[in-house]
Amino acid sequence: MEKLARFSVSLPATLLDKFDVWIEMRGHKTRSDALRQLIRRFISESCWEDGEQTIFGTVTLTYDHHSHDSAQEITALQHNFGDLIICSTHIHADRHHCFESVVFKGKASRVKEFIKEVSGLKDVYGSDPIITAIP
Ligand code: NI
Repeated sequence: MEKLARFSVSLPATLLDKFDVWIEMRGHKTRSDALRQLIRRFISESCWEDGEQTIFGTVTLTYDHHSHDSAQEITALQHNFGDLIICSTHIHADRHHCFESVVFKGKASRVKEFIKEVSGLKDVYGSDPIITAIP
């Protein structure tokens, strides 16, 4: 296990009160746990914005089950981005809709290209990706 480092933080008391409420709502056991998660999220978001870092993540696509074009286009795009996509899971959401959850690992800029392309498909509803930087 990695050695822990300690540091102290000074902030306005009212901000700390709000942070403690947030910690309670999120179910964190300690301020340190909450702060670690916030720092990791901040780093992941920075990696996403920077574009050059390798990230893991998922994006979920929704489309009409009856649209054969959508299914074929999504499959074709996943082949084109085979360097990025680890796997995908198809979920028959209801009688009319399908979900496709795509798991990826790669440079954030490449992930953005995939999301841009998939978002441009007719009748496919993309979601914001859920990402995490490799620790
Ligand atoms: Ni389906």
